[in-house]
Amino acid sequence: MAYRNFIDLWQLEAAELRAIMDSAHAMKRARQGWPKGKIDADAPLAGHTLAMIFEKSSTRTRFSFDMAMTQLGGSSIIATAADMQLGRGETVEDTARVLSRYVDAVMIRANNHSDVETFAAAASVPVINGLTDRSHPCQIMADLMTLEEHGLDLKGARLAWVGDGNNVCSSLIHAAPKFGYSMAIGTPERYAPDEDDVEIAREMQGRIDLYDTAEEAVAGADVVIADTFVSMGDADADERLAELDPYAVTEDLMGIANGGAKFLHCLPAHRGEEVDAEIIDGPQSLVWDEAENRLHAQKAVLRWCLGK
Ligand code: CP
Ligand code: NVA
Repeated sequence: MAYRNFIDLWQLEAAELRAIMDSAHAMKRARQGWPKGKIDADAPLAGHTLAMIFEKSSTRTRFSFDMAMTQLGGSSIIATAADMQLGRGETVEDTARVLSRYVDAVMIRANNHSDVETFAAAASVPVINGLTDRSHPCQIMADLMTLEEHGLDLKGARLAWVGDGNNVCSSLIHAAPKFGYSMAIGTPERYAPDEDDVEIAREMQGRIDLYDTAEEAVAGADVVIADTFVSMGDADADERLAELDPYAVTEDLMGIANGGAKFLHCLPAHRGEEVDAEIIDGPQSLVWDEAENRLHAQKAVLRWCLGK
């Protein structure tokens, strides 16, 4: 069976990403006002099951993928790695071979990005990256969908990322040349985004500007994006909180961005750390639509992976 993995956004063609995004918008529109558990009229994944493996905590990814499969007419099975033999030393490859005999697709949230790649290489069904230490592609599909929904033309838009140049930032970098937005990233040097990711985007003619301060990054931005200063798996929490404090999104910082600039945050948020309550709970914030759009964007990703 022909299938496609969804591991990193730079690996997809711009036209494929555009088609996934258009499908997400269309599916969301088509079920406005419906009960959330009602199956889409065409039930495109009827008879299909998604397995989800979590090595780290999750609220949005877990519930949105589960509901995505329900709305597509399929089903899902969820386990933490600790519940599985994976947690007691069964290899990633053997787990992939076995699950491929039971289910039609697998979503993995893994500590190490290389485990998702190893799993995908051994599996014979599509594998979706549900966040790793390196990237979070599903999140960025939802983020970009949200911006479009709120009227932003991504082509030529300026997106500012401030704080830690982490996994979510990397996926936003990967998508920049695909959708035609430029990025302004403000971080301390120590928490700058991965150099390889920046190079990948620049090689594809993406414009990625790196700055030492949040103020420089936000100047002229249409969107300001923040994430936690301490990601899952980060050991140096105290140092991070101290060093990243000047990169918090405050009213003063938002005031430097373009008038009417939007605010995004993948959640979970820490009010008073990376963002002030006035911003995340204020009129510029799109975070609840952003969280909802995880569901719609992932439905489109699932259909693309399975060729449905
Ligand atoms: N944004 C996001 O991936 O949230 P969860 O960690 O709750 O899945
Ligand atoms: N950067 C965060 C995102 C959580 C959704 C983390 O990896 O913990």
